[in-house]
This record gives sequence, C-alpha cells and structure tokens, in this order.
Amino acid sequence: MNDSFLSQFDGYTAIAEEKQAAEKLGTGLTDQRAMTREYIDRLHPKELALAVSRIIEETPTTKTLRLVPTDLPLPPFLPGQYTAVTVQVDGIRTGRPLSISSAPNQIAYWDLTVRRVAGGLVSNYLLDQVKAGDTLTCSGPAGNFYVNPLVHDPTIVAIAGGSGVTPFMSMIRRVVDFGLDSRIFLFYGNRDLNDVIFHEELTRIARSNENIRYIPVIETPPKGYTGRSGYITAETIKDEIGDVSAKTFFLCGPQAMYDFCLPQLEKLGVPSRKIRREMYGTPLSITAYPGWPAVVGEGASFMVSVRGGKHFAAPATTPLLASLEKHGIVVPFLCRSGECSMCRVKLLSGTVYQPPGTPVRKSDAQFGYIHSCVSYPISDIEILL
Ligand SMILES: Cc1cc2nc3c(=O)[nH]c(=O)nc-3n(C[C@H](O)[C@H](O)[C@H](O)COP(=O)(O)OP(=O)(O)OC[C@H]3O[C@@H](n4cnc5c(N)ncnc54)[C@H](O)[C@@H]3O)c2cc1C
Ligand code: FES
Repeated sequence: MNDSFLSQFDGYTAIAEEKQAAEKLGTGLTDQRAMTREYIDRLHPKELALAVSRIIEETPTTKTLRLVPTDLPLPPFLPGQYTAVTVQVDGIRTGRPLSISSAPNQIAYWDLTVRRVAGGLVSNYLLDQVKAGDTLTCSGPAGNFYVNPLVHDPTIVAIAGGSGVTPFMSMIRRVVDFGLDSRIFLFYGNRDLNDVIFHEELTRIARSNENIRYIPVIETPPKGYTGRSGYITAETIKDEIGDVSAKTFFLCGPQAMYDFCLPQLEKLGVPSRKIRREMYGTPLSITAYPGWPAVVGEGASFMVSVRGGKHFAAPATTPLLASLEKHGIVVPFLCRSGECSMCRVKLLSGTVYQPPGTPVRKSDAQFGYIHSCVSYPISDIEILL
C-alpha cells in the first residue's frame, strides 16, 4: 500500500511521525508491538501448562481435576466455555474438549469435571492415570455456549444430561458468587441417583438462593424416591417454569437427550431462536446418520495418503482426525465436534462423509477443505495438511 493512499486515514500522519522518530532511535515499533502481543497472548493464550493440584471424587464415575497455572496467570473465560486438553495416551497424542465447571471469578484455578465413558480413550486416562502434581496441556478458553445479556433473557432454563451439567455449574456458581439478578432453572437428567454430579452443592445452593431452581430428574429412581423421575418432558418443564415466554433455553448433554428434549420444547411452543444447544463431540453411530452410503459397512477401511507424508489404512467409521492422530500426525483441534474449524485439512482427492449441517465455511468448501474431526473416509483419499 502506498503512502498517498494510507495518508487519507485519520491519525496516519501522527503514526508516521512516531514511526520515523522510533526508527531514528533505532527501536522501530517493536517494543510496543511485543508488549501488545504479550497482553493479547495473556488474554487469549493458545496453550497453557496447568498442574493438577487436587482431584475431587464427585460420583463413582466422575472426578473433578482442579488445575492451577504453572507459569502465566489463568486467562479470563465466560461461564459455559471449554478448554481443549491435550494428552498422550498409549503413544497417541490426542485430546478432548472439557467445559470449565468452576466459576469465572475463581482466578486461582480451573475445575474440569470428567465422567467416564465406557471404552473411552481420554476420559479413562484422565480418571485413572492422572494424579495430583501432573501437568496437563490446555487450550485457552473456547466456545460460544454462554449467556449474552444483550441477546438472552434474564431467566435461563438449563437442561442438562450426565456430564452436560458442567457448563451450567460455572454459570450457577457465577450467579451465586456475584448475587446476580438473573434466574436459572436447572433440569438435570441422569440414569440413577448415584450418577448425579454436584447434587449436594446444587441442593444447598437452591435452598439458600431463590434465583436458582434445581430439578433433578432420575430415569430409574430408588424405591421411595419423591423427586421427579423418568425423562425431562414438556409437562415437567411447564410445571416448574410456567410460561415459556421471556426465557432462553440452554441444552447440554448427549445426543439422545437432544433427540428427546428438543421436540418437548417444540411442544411447549419455544421458538428455535430461544434455544441454545452445546455441541457434544463426534457422532456416536455415524452409519445411522442421514446420507451415510449404505455400501460402506461398519468394517470398511480406506487408504489415507497425506501429501508428502504417510499412507495408511483408516476405518471408515473413525473420524479422520482420530486416524491421523493414531498414526502420529498432529492436527490442531478444539471442539472435535465440527464447529470451530481448527482441524481443517484440504481434501485433494477422494470422498469423505461429513454429517449434514457441518458448518464448513463456504470458501472452505469451495477450495476443498474439510473438518477432519467429523469427516469419515468413504473412498481412498489424499489430503494436504
Ligand atoms: C464442548 C464440549 C465440552 C465437553 N465437556 C465435557 C465435560 O465437562 N466433562 C466430560 O466428562 N465430558 C465433556 N465432553 C465430552 C468429552 O470431550 C469426550 O467426548 C468424552 O470424555 C469421551 O471421550 P473419550 O476419549 O473417553 O471417548 P472416545 O474414545 O472419544 O469414545 C469412545 C466411545 O464412546 C462414545 N462416546 C464418545 N463420547 C461419549 C459421551 N459423551 N457419552 C457416551 N458415549 C460417548 C464414542 O462414540 C466411542 O464409541 C465435552 C465435549 C464437548 C464437545
Ligand atoms: S476441532 Fe473444531 S471443527 Fe474439528
């Protein structure tokens, strides 16, 4: 860009003079740039080394890992955001997103609350192998599953299933700690009473804080249980909250919960613009998704060639990102749910299946980029990292 064009902008002359003076002194603008960079990196770090200071047993299947900073202070986050934890399990460098369950005003530590997934690679590693004193690599806070007071109603109806309670725990702790004038109804579904995470704390908070209403819903309750049981139905929701207007609905839980609860909200007449839904990882049974080619069976595998790199056979039903990691290829990631586009790679040839609605940017799609965390090879493919 030439100077005559730039000089049309307000403040250009002052900046040019400052630059000239700085150059004369031999500093350029690098000092200021470095300071600004450092400030931005503190607010939005790409990576943090956090030490496990304490492990809290929450339920038979769930623990909270309390993480403290080892070098830089913890960056701020909005309740509902997550961090992507990178680990090395069985020689594979991989990771998973985990919501931060502690309150955002708690600047000394982040709590990550992990529930065991049967056969799951990372949840089992975090629960069984990680001990106090270990260091975990975490991304800066990410995601947009948070309450925006400019857009959302002051009354939030939170619907959680299983470990999906974690983002809401952060939101609730914030309302309580700051004494905020916003209301949260938490409907929390679990298979049995033993599975309920934070039950005592939520019961205690709800007892002493009229802005928080806690409604556990137990699928198979013990004999004599007097609380809500079964699923989170339209009737249960209506009974508790009354009118659905002037309320924003936040959902976080497994796919089965969305499949059940979204029609319940529709039944209540909640407009879709009032519903926010957190992502929940890669699809569970990809072959059941609409558009999955019937000719590609569960056991199928295809050759993946990385331009200028490795070639290997990859199962069709495993996300490409997981297959790349298994072969020692590092691809950045955050959400592992198809949303953030961190894991995109360029598809040079062949075909992958991506579930309908995967938000690939128009320009990315035009130039052949795919989100490897939700892409499944359904022919031999060649990719560029
Ligand atoms: C934004 C975001 C925030 C999250 N926050 C949390 C959190 O705070 N706490 C937490 O415990 N988890 C959270 N998760 C889920 C977490 O990221 C992992 O998906 C989960 O721990 C399973 O990982 P894994 O490596 O153990 O299982 P994998 O090895 O990835 O999967 C093993 C098997 O289990 C199935 N599976 C994967 N995930 C689940 C699941 N959640 N339920 C049932 N079956 C599953 C897979 O399809 C596969 O068949 C979050 C996910 C997202 C996207
Ligand atoms: S890691 Fe976010 S889109 Fe794949």
